Amino acid sequence: MLYSMVIKDCYSLSEAAELLGKSKETLRRWDKEGKLPALREPISEYRIYKKQDINNLIKPLFDNLEEIVDNSEKPLKEYKVLELFAGAGGLAIGLEKAGIKCAALNEIDKWACQTLRENRPHWNVLEGDIKSFNFEKFNGEVDIVTGGFPCQAFSYAGKKLGLEDARGTLFYEFARAVKEVNPPICIGENVKGLLSHEKGETLKGMLSILDEIGYKVVPVQVLKAINYKVPQKRERLILVGIRKDIDIKYEYPKPYQNIYNLSDALKKGPLYDSNVPKSEGSKYPQHKKEILDLIPPKGYWRDLPIDLQKEYMGKSFYLGGGKTGMARRIGWDEPSLTLTCSPAQKQTERCHPDETRPFTVREYARIQTFPDEWKFMGSVSQQYKQIGNAVPCNLGREIGYSIVKFLNDYYSSLSNPK
Ligand SMILES: C[S@@+](CC[C@H](N)C(=O)[O-])C[C@H]1O[C@@H](n2cnc3c(N)ncnc32)[C@H](O)[C@@H]1O
Repeated sequence: MLYSMVIKDCYSLSEAAELLGKSKETLRRWDKEGKLPALREPISEYRIYKKQDINNLIKPLFDNLEEIVDNSEKPLKEYKVLELFAGAGGLAIGLEKAGIKCAALNEIDKWACQTLRENRPHWNVLEGDIKSFNFEKFNGEVDIVTGGFPCQAFSYAGKKLGLEDARGTLFYEFARAVKEVNPPICIGENVKGLLSHEKGETLKGMLSILDEIGYKVVPVQVLKAINYKVPQKRERLILVGIRKDIDIKYEYPKPYQNIYNLSDALKKGPLYDSNVPKSEGSKYPQHKKEILDLIPPKGYWRDLPIDLQKEYMGKSFYLGGGKTGMARRIGWDEPSLTLTCSPAQKQTERCHPDETRPFTVREYARIQTFPDEWKFMGSVSQQYKQIGNAVPCNLGREIGYSIVKFLNDYYSSLSNPK
């Protein structure tokens, strides 16, 4: 009994680390330095943290500050992008907001293509497998090639890799398009997991291939969407390649201080000038609803009575660890956790704060910072998938500004050589 009481009002080290967005190592150091003292779980002696202490720390992170950062940059001329793996257009909308024109977009999924055409009838949507397109006609026509290629392994034996070694993968297709178009800058977008995929060898291989086709890659960064006006804790790895003949520095967008939360996403406020429109959405099966009814906002499976914790978690109950995504209900005053391709998955639950249901399609879209006018085509599950796959539009806009700044500097240097 003592065991469950102690745990109930406390977070484990990994839970506290996840909630604060810090590493476990940092929390151990903070404990040693007395900055955030941990308690000890009486049986295992593992570090645990009073929920109140952690919640007090989270709050100031989300209080509004006077914003001093401004990444916005006006294009000096019309810049054009070829957007590959375009999905429902999250990145494309962001780039458009930054003033970049979409010359063409490639996407294989027919519903995502319909979404793009429905919202932007003038966009040149190249529907089909990227493998079947030749992009040479865009050489000299576009300034940027972008693409969120799905991550796949390719064999890498520690040697320098060339383009042909990656043949058969979607990264190969991305790199082939870059080679055919030869733009001043190319941007690849991926999940953070690419850093550790095959112990880092996959990423190393990609850098080596980009080098072979004439691009030097800026040190890779993982951008946190919450730092770029997105009310969601999503992270994206960005690969920026600069054509080797260009000696202009690329700078990542600077993080904003203000962090937006779920209330900013769904209610009238600084991000949207109205409440979220009503729309379709999926529902929980009865048993899941009964479980989630017992969870308070910002709570998760640990808030259940111990017998239900055991029943709901099954074997995971005994594994310890965080798993803070299970039976999770989001709070109004925190950013949403990362949205996935479907809104009711056991490992990545994100229940609405007041009602026991997954987010609706339009709520999903708001959390990804899509405009309310942007329609999604296909069934409800196709729509969730398109939204969950996207780069949040506001993050895309900030990446767009950083590209505009780079291209402004580049083209100015051509007309005013040193
Ligand atoms: C991560 S999503 C991209 C999201 C998009 N950048 C956005 O911001 O909305 C990857 C996309 O690649 C598309 N895709 C996968 N294989 C493809 C292929 N062989 N050719 C073209 N597109 C492909 C998928 O359908 C999916 O929409």
